[in-house]
Amino acid sequence: MEGGGTIGGARTDGGMTIGSGGDTIDACPSADMAGGWAGGCGQERQNDVASGVEVRRHRHGAQAHAIWREVFQAPTFVCAPMVLQSERAFRMLVRRHGCGAAWSPMAKAMCWDTQRAQVLEDLSGCPEDRPLVCQLCAVGVDEVVAAALDVQAHCDAVCLNLGCPQRTAAAAGFGAFLMDRPALVREMVSALAAALHVPVFAKIRVLPKLADTLAFVRMLEAAGCSLVTVHGRTRDNTHHGGPCDWWAIRACVDAVCIPVVANGGVYTLAAAHECLRVTGAVAVMGAGGLLRNPRMFNPAPSAVAGASVESVAGANDCGPIALAREYLRVAEAYPPPIRCVRDHLLALLRTEIKTAGEAMYNMFVRQQRVRYRPQFCLLVSTLAAILGIETPLACCLNNIKHWQPGAVTSGLEGTAGLVCRCGVGCFGNAGGAQVQAPCSHQGDREEDALLSIFDD
Ligand SMILES: Cc1cc2nc3c(=O)[nH]c(=O)nc-3n(C[C@H](O)[C@H](O)[C@H](O)COP(=O)(O)O)c2cc1C
Repeated sequence: MEGGGTIGGARTDGGMTIGSGGDTIDACPSADMAGGWAGGCGQERQNDVASGVEVRRHRHGAQAHAIWREVFQAPTFVCAPMVLQSERAFRMLVRRHGCGAAWSPMAKAMCWDTQRAQVLEDLSGCPEDRPLVCQLCAVGVDEVVAAALDVQAHCDAVCLNLGCPQRTAAAAGFGAFLMDRPALVREMVSALAAALHVPVFAKIRVLPKLADTLAFVRMLEAAGCSLVTVHGRTRDNTHHGGPCDWWAIRACVDAVCIPVVANGGVYTLAAAHECLRVTGAVAVMGAGGLLRNPRMFNPAPSAVAGASVESVAGANDCGPIALAREYLRVAEAYPPPIRCVRDHLLALLRTEIKTAGEAMYNMFVRQQRVRYRPQFCLLVSTLAAILGIETPLACCLNNIKHWQPGAVTSGLEGTAGLVCRCGVGCFGNAGGAQVQAPCSHQGDREEDALLSIFDD
C-alpha cells in the first residue's frame, strides 16, 4: 500500500462503557435509539420496540444517503476541516483538483461572539464554494445550537468536532474529549438535528476499544447524525500522523446505516483508492496529504474543471513551486487571512525553505509562528527567491496588524536586499533598524501585503 496509511490490525472487542468521564451508553443501538426500553413489558414487547427502532434506523440511513447523493453529489474525495488551512482559498484550490466537498476549519461555538464575523466571512457569499460543511466545536448544547443556527444559511451541513486532540481541547473538554461524555454528545446532536434545516454531521477519532467506537457511532446515528467521518487514529496521537486503523473505519461502516467518510493516512491517490476499498466508506477525506499536494486527488492535473489554461499554468508540474504559485493565484481571487497564506506556503515549500538555510528552517518550520516583522521580511525574500520572483517587498507590510514590537535580528544577517515598492526605501537593505523603520505607504488589507509580493 502506498502513501503511509498503515492499516493497524488492532481489533479489541471488550468493554461496552465509553470513555472515562462518567457517562455510559449501552452499545445496543436499538436500546439507545428508543431512549431506553419500554421497561418490564416482556420479550415480545421488547422485540416490537426493537424492530420499530430498526425500521427508523434504516429509514434515517436511507435519508442520509439521499442527502449525500443529492445535496453533496456523492463525492469520492473531500477536503478535511483544518484550522487556518481549509480556508476558502484552499477549498477552492482543492475543488479544482478532485475534492467534491469541503469542510471549513473548526470554529469555536463557545467563543461565538469573537469568532462569528470571521467565520461568516469565510463561509458566505460564494456559491462556487459548495457543497460546504461548517465545523463547530463546543462544550454545551445551547452554544452549539446558537452558532449552528447562525451558520446554517451558508453551508450544506453542520459538523460537530469530536476529534480535536489538542491540549486546549483537553482543558476545555471539547473535540475528542467530548467522546468521554456520550450522553452530552447525544443531547447536542439531537438538539442540532431538531433545530436545523441542514443535516448534522460529526467527525470522530477511534477509541482504544473497537466496541466503544462502534457504540459511539451508533449513538450518533440514533441521535440524528446524518454522516460521520471517522479518523482512524486515537486521540493520543495528537499530531495527525502515524498508523491509522482503516479496519476500525470498516467496522464503523458496517455498524451504521448512515454514510461514513474515512479519514487518516492518505497521502497519495493510490492510497485513497486503497482506503476506499478497505473501508467501504462513501468517501475519503484528505488533510495532511492535501496540504502537501493539493492536486493529490486529481488523476489528471492538466484536466482541471472550471479553470482556465492560464490559471493552471504548469498544471502538469506537481512540484512544490508550481503548487505554491497556483495556491497564490487562487488566494488572490479569494484573499485569506495572512496566517493561512504563510502556513500553506510553509507546508508546500518546507524542503525548499530548509535548503535555504538552517536559520530559516528553525524560524519558520520548527517554531512556525512568525511574530516579528523582520522574520516576515526574511521569509518573504526567501520565498520570493524560491519561487523565482523578483522581490518587490510591499511596504504595506507596515500595516500588518500582527507585528509585535521588539527587534529581532537573529537570522537576518546576510539577508538579500529587500526593495521597497513605494520607493520610500523603508526596507532598503534588510537588517535590524532599517527593517523596523516606518513607511508612509498604506496598504488596504493585510493580506494584500503578502500577495502583492508575489505579483510577477
Ligand atoms: C493543520 C491541521 C489542522 C487541523 N484542523 C482540524 C480541525 O479544525 N477540525 C478537525 O476536525 N480536524 C482537524 N485536523 C485533523 C484533520 O482534519 C484530519 O483528521 C487529520 O489530519 C488526519 O488526516 P490525514 O492523515 O489525512 O492528515 C487538522 C489537521 C491539520 C494537519
